[in-house]
Amino acid sequence: MAAREIKSNIYTVGAIDWDRRLFDALIPLPDGTSYNSYLIKGSEKTALIDTVDPTMEDILINHLNQLGVENINYVVAHHAEQDHSGALPKVLEKYPQAKVIATPKCKGMLIDLLTIPEKRFITVDDKETISLGDRALEFIHAPWVHWPETMLTYLREEGLLFSCDLFGSHLATNDLYVTDEGQVYEAAKRYYAEIMMPFRTSIEKHLEKIKDYQIDTIAPSHGPIYDNPSFILNAYRSWVFDEPKNIVVLPYISMHGSTHRMVGYLVEALTQRGVTVKQFDLTATDIGKLAIALVDAATIIIGTPTVLAGPHPIVIYAAFLANALRPKLKFISIIGSYGWGGRAVEQLAGVIPNLKAELLEPVLCKGVPKEDDFKALDSLATTIAEKHKEHNFA
Ligand code: FEO
Repeated sequence: MAAREIKSNIYTVGAIDWDRRLFDALIPLPDGTSYNSYLIKGSEKTALIDTVDPTMEDILINHLNQLGVENINYVVAHHAEQDHSGALPKVLEKYPQAKVIATPKCKGMLIDLLTIPEKRFITVDDKETISLGDRALEFIHAPWVHWPETMLTYLREEGLLFSCDLFGSHLATNDLYVTDEGQVYEAAKRYYAEIMMPFRTSIEKHLEKIKDYQIDTIAPSHGPIYDNPSFILNAYRSWVFDEPKNIVVLPYISMHGSTHRMVGYLVEALTQRGVTVKQFDLTATDIGKLAIALVDAATIIIGTPTVLAGPHPIVIYAAFLANALRPKLKFISIIGSYGWGGRAVEQLAGVIPNLKAELLEPVLCKGVPKEDDFKALDSLATTIAEKHKEHNFA
């Protein structure tokens, strides 16, 4: 696919990774991804915004060759992570006069990660501008999107924000701009949930900081460009600022059916009480789907059998991830079955210290669930419904 012009003398020169299915050896990519890189030909200077994953550096170089780019003055490195900076050494080799523009923190990380010589860098302060002649790049420091060194770049003349990972989506598409808002909403929410949600307080500050900029277009470093920025800005505001919703997320494992019966009973009890439930059998769950559900949920109920004297290891894994993602959850509980004993509740509580949620009375039954266990599940459902109502979670 050739480089394409998105505005006068501004081109996309990055790569679409249709086939990648895993990021960080952890995050599922059901729709692939893209590594967006943009070339800006100013009247006096030329700048490249980010590079691409090193596995696709030849595609970037081909795009630059197609456009006849003989000189690059600046390579803006928003972020040191390899999916955007991994092709920097190749670009700097091809354009020996190019300087890397980065935050001071990013400079240090790029030296550590890619051994780029110190003399190749120009560091910029927050709000600093660098002219390309007929237009200027304004750098907006935005630490913790989702590493500590990140920044964004604003092109005032175009009302164009290059937003680094912020507002991105892991979505391989040859549409330059968002065409299917439903599909992009899901992909961007997945991306937010997995990458940005743990840094929600920083993202809040960045949303406040860019509020006064005239933004007509957002060009993220993954996924399609937003020519209707309010679509993604409003979505982010909702994910970041809104109160949780009247939703219970219920990830569980069942080995011999008892925990499954408890889950089924509780889902029915919550449904009767007007609570939305999102149930995940962890043996078959895309953890991205679980992360998406955690963005809005008020409560998580973890369902686990007792095995090896504790919670099922797959449940521990899911709880550990939920803890790392730091969702807005307000309530938590645990249900499940055990054969003779164990410390499922204590061990699960030990892996979720970041979840500042109120623990509702767990329901653990010995063997198969019996009348008293179902009563306890009814009681748990009533408590959840009442708590959600008290907080006006809609
Ligand atoms: Fe897309 Fe954090 O790199």
